[in-house]
Amino acid sequence: MRVRAAAVFATPFLFALAALAADAPKAPAAASPDQSKAEVRFKNVQAFKGYPADAVFPAMQFMSAALGVDCEYCHVDREPESDDKKEKKVARKMITMTLAINQNNFDGRVEVTCMSCHRGATDPVAVPIIAATEPTEEPAAPKPVALPAVKSVLDKYAQAVGGADALAKIKTRVQKGTITGFGPGPLPVDVLSEAPDKRVTIVSNPKGQNITAFDGQHGWLFNTGRPARDMSPSEGENARFDAMILFPSDFKRLFKELKVASLDTIDGKAAVKVLALNDGSPAVDIWFDAQSGLIVRVMRYAETPIGRNPTEISYADFRAADGVTIPFRWTVARPSGRFTVQLEESKQNAPVDAKSFVKPAQGPPS
Ligand code: HEC
Ligand code: HEC
Repeated sequence: MRVRAAAVFATPFLFALAALAADAPKAPAAASPDQSKAEVRFKNVQAFKGYPADAVFPAMQFMSAALGVDCEYCHVDREPESDDKKEKKVARKMITMTLAINQNNFDGRVEVTCMSCHRGATDPVAVPIIAATEPTEEPAAPKPVALPAVKSVLDKYAQAVGGADALAKIKTRVQKGTITGFGPGPLPVDVLSEAPDKRVTIVSNPKGQNITAFDGQHGWLFNTGRPARDMSPSEGENARFDAMILFPSDFKRLFKELKVASLDTIDGKAAVKVLALNDGSPAVDIWFDAQSGLIVRVMRYAETPIGRNPTEISYADFRAADGVTIPFRWTVARPSGRFTVQLEESKQNAPVDAKSFVKPAQGPPS
């Protein structure tokens, strides 16, 4: 059942659905119904009635990942409102069931999700699995290791990236490179950013552009030929984080609390895992290389009404650029697939047009 394209936003089917969804109900301005509600913006939303409209796409991505399927498993192409497929009707019942389980047993906290039962398959397993091997002796419990203090991890990081003075001097970055795993073959990518938290990533493909942006307030996504889609607040928080990590002098301001969780191994090297906490949003896990002090991996989650969509970003190919050490390569991995950006150049403090971060009304920004 694993027939998904590399990136969710790279599947043509999703483009089609996204277009339809955004084209959907055009109510007369006079009536001004609340477009922020799922049942107003979409044509046939019943289970998610009363939920924010911008939660619908993240929830759809969550369901696809939890069942290990594509959108087409439940949807008729280009008619997401259609209930013709039996799977969609079952899924609607399942959404209502899952919301009720959490409401009735966990005070509304999202504890049970599609993933709890489905584990990446359409048919949940109900019977315990028979052991595949003969029992072996339990390995001795590892000796507890002394964890470094969070302050020393952050200080080491600040030193590793170039120190506060060097960081403070970088106001913008204009980066160019290639992206692989985001459609057919390597594609050119441009990353424009402005301190502290504006960032736009533009992938150019033969048909146009695919843009992911955070404008300092909101996140948005755009594909040529389709209207832009707003990120949900939780997706936006993550996009803000991605933008701010490019200007790490503001790093500590991002979170209310940071605490060291464990010593792990990332790509064969010791790394300190730090939990970054904020009220009301899932913790972000950040791994600092124990030797270099640099951030080598981040794991973060976007909340949906029925569960969390995970994203893992791994950073590599660190180089000095105007006194600041930055990754020239990063890999973004999600349940739907992974892509890698490899930079060829990074120009610090080059001019960035303010319009680059503004969500396009219809067509792509030229
Ligand atoms: C497991 C089944 C399932 C999968 C997979 C799925 N959906 Fe859905 N989708 C639904 C159900 C059920 C609804 C209706 C929800 C409700 O009633 O609140 C829906 C509603 C929608 C709507 C609203 C349509 C309208 O106007 O009423 C859109 C848009 C949508 N899905 C897009 C997608 C996209 C894009 C994907 C792939 C990323 C996807 N769906 C994957 C089951 C699914
Ligand atoms: C408490 C466990 C549980 C949860 C939570 C759960 N499911 Fe299911 N789901 C099942 C079981 C069990 C079946 C199989 C029922 C059967 O065989 O008749 C099933 C069947 C389905 C099917 C039909 C599959 C087929 O082969 O026809 C779909 C689609 C589905 N679930 C979607 C979802 C979605 C989407 C969610 C989350 C919103 C979800 N389920 C949450 C237990 C669960």
